[in-house]
Amino acid sequence: MPRQAYVNGRYCPHNEAAVHIEDRGYQFSDGVYEVVPVAKGVMVDEDPHLDRLERSLRELRIDMPMSRAALKLVSRELMRRNALTNGIVYMQVTRGVAPRDHKFPKAATPALVLTTRQMKPPSAQKLAEGVRVITVPDIRWKRCDIKSISLLPNILAKQKAVEVDCYEAWMVDAEDRVTEGTSTNAWIVTEDNELVTRDVSNLILSGITRMRLLKLAEQAGVTFTERSFTLEEARKAREAFITSSTNFVMPVTRIDEVPVGNGHAGLVTCKLRESYEGFVGESKVSA
Ligand code: PDD
Repeated sequence: MPRQAYVNGRYCPHNEAAVHIEDRGYQFSDGVYEVVPVAKGVMVDEDPHLDRLERSLRELRIDMPMSRAALKLVSRELMRRNALTNGIVYMQVTRGVAPRDHKFPKAATPALVLTTRQMKPPSAQKLAEGVRVITVPDIRWKRCDIKSISLLPNILAKQKAVEVDCYEAWMVDAEDRVTEGTSTNAWIVTEDNELVTRDVSNLILSGITRMRLLKLAEQAGVTFTERSFTLEEARKAREAFITSSTNFVMPVTRIDEVPVGNGHAGLVTCKLRESYEGFVGESKVSA
């Protein structure tokens, strides 16, 4: 069976799936999304992802397109049709279709699209080598806590990184403090061995992987602090890494030409990656 997508009530071949030209997501980025990791055919932390989806929608005053239970059924059916084992489910909800006009339409039905993508885990070599990041000014709006599909600053920064052979860009605020990556949360282990990731606020996305890893760190007796850290601290850090639904825990081994620690994946980072992989491996289907 060819790969399928789900678009507004219908399953259809992925390469034929389409939305209306006056979908407000297409015209105004008036919508939100979620990326839920899938491991061994099970959605990881599905409920926290759906909690965040509902929150993002609430903040934009868009209704849930269907009940949470129905959304879970659709996700599972799409995963089944696509024989998805490891990868992601992508969900996007927009305010719907209406003649182009900035104000909210009086009556629009939220539009829902789901796709899946199979993904391979990184090789052991890649994990040992880690990835390189550049830093760029954070030019985003003040509601980065909403998982909006409006991602221009993020894609421009990511492209800048890729053009200099880097994997990710860390965005830096006006006080020279790292906010987060273009699609990842940023972490360091400081010179004094303190595990640090920025505290949740309107200036970053509250990552589900971040939240899970903090719980796992606590269980493993790894102490941490949720606070902002400066670019200088990051450059002097012993270890650094990024987290996201698509990267899990990925070591960062160079920041702006400066090697992090000894230039290889750090011990704390590897331990946390292992914990997260263990958690993912044990994930069960939720109701
Ligand atoms: N991005 N910060 C930003 C700006 C993000 O876009 C993401 C996720 C994260 C990490 O969140 P989580 O751990 O819930 O995946 C942090 C997804 C993967 C994406 O845009 O593809």
